[in-house]
Amino acid sequence: MEIKEIKTEKLDPKGFIKQSVEEISSTVGSGLAINALSGGVDSSVVTILGHKALGDRLKTYFIENGLMREKEGEKIVYLFENLGIHVEMFDAKEQFFNALKGITDPEEKREAITRTFYKDVFGKLVKESGAKYLMQGTNYTDVEETVAGIKRQHNILAQIGIDTEEQYGYIVIEPIVQLRKTGIRKVAKALGLPEEIYNKPPFPGPALAARIIGEVTPERVQTIRKATTIVEEELHTTNAFQYLAILHKDKVTGMREGKRDYGLQIEVRCWESKDAITGSPTRLPYDILYKLAERITTEVPGVVSVTYNITKKPPSTIEAV
Ligand code: XMP
Repeated sequence: MEIKEIKTEKLDPKGFIKQSVEEISSTVGSGLAINALSGGVDSSVVTILGHKALGDRLKTYFIENGLMREKEGEKIVYLFENLGIHVEMFDAKEQFFNALKGITDPEEKREAITRTFYKDVFGKLVKESGAKYLMQGTNYTDVEETVAGIKRQHNILAQIGIDTEEQYGYIVIEPIVQLRKTGIRKVAKALGLPEEIYNKPPFPGPALAARIIGEVTPERVQTIRKATTIVEEELHTTNAFQYLAILHKDKVTGMREGKRDYGLQIEVRCWESKDAITGSPTRLPYDILYKLAERITTEVPGVVSVTYNITKKPPSTIEAV
């Protein structure tokens, strides 16, 4: 791997910001660039760096792929409007659900999401806008895991031999590719982003599709979205690295009001980790686990079973897909 890591301990956030802004300016010159903001710390940092360098010559989109959490788009558009940056919502729900139809294999799912995002959605947006550059928040861990063959992270392109200019018609700029999450958080803070961004738990590029075992359909996304809201409400005070819900493919026999109910299973995961490379399950108090099971089985239609995963990474990974 040719990319050289900047270790968080050695990172000077102010110096990094200055250098990065200069590099973006000189690469793009007087041209146009676009980027997608998901609202995570990585894409938020790239959005601010890009706007510092290019001003209005960077057009920022929130891609509504139908796989995001409750009201995620509205919240992030509002937050960035308050920072003086306009974010355009782009509705691509249908394209993503069509691409995911019938797919159950995890890597095929990731591949379908990547293709839809970069080729179908961004290929078109780039052509329409006249931009030649796409900025994105790939980080050092994304590259490492993909190159190691663990998971194909959605945003890895050049590092696995994809020539984006030839295949999609644009050049990709990755300002934070030398940083790990801890370093990116430091840069986010130095850029003046609010704490809800610089301390935001990670969320995967394939969004809730990374938490659905089996086919991703609008109905199944709705189930995992509801469970995710509950898990986040109940676990955000734990200060854990990441907490999530997973929808299983297999149903199990349950019962409701004295009758058989062949229903859905949700698995809860809550991780202690520094950098997502390794992790261990949080020792959650039993009362919290009990409340999670109560809420998920009463508030999420069709769920009859809730489990808590007690496996470390490795051999587990953080997400299920
Ligand atoms: P895994 O599941 O590989 O996750 O142990 C490690 C960390 O990466 C996040 N994750 C992703 N982030 N694109 C991303 O930007 C992806 O495709 C992706 N897949 C997983 C995951 O949430 C965890 O923090």
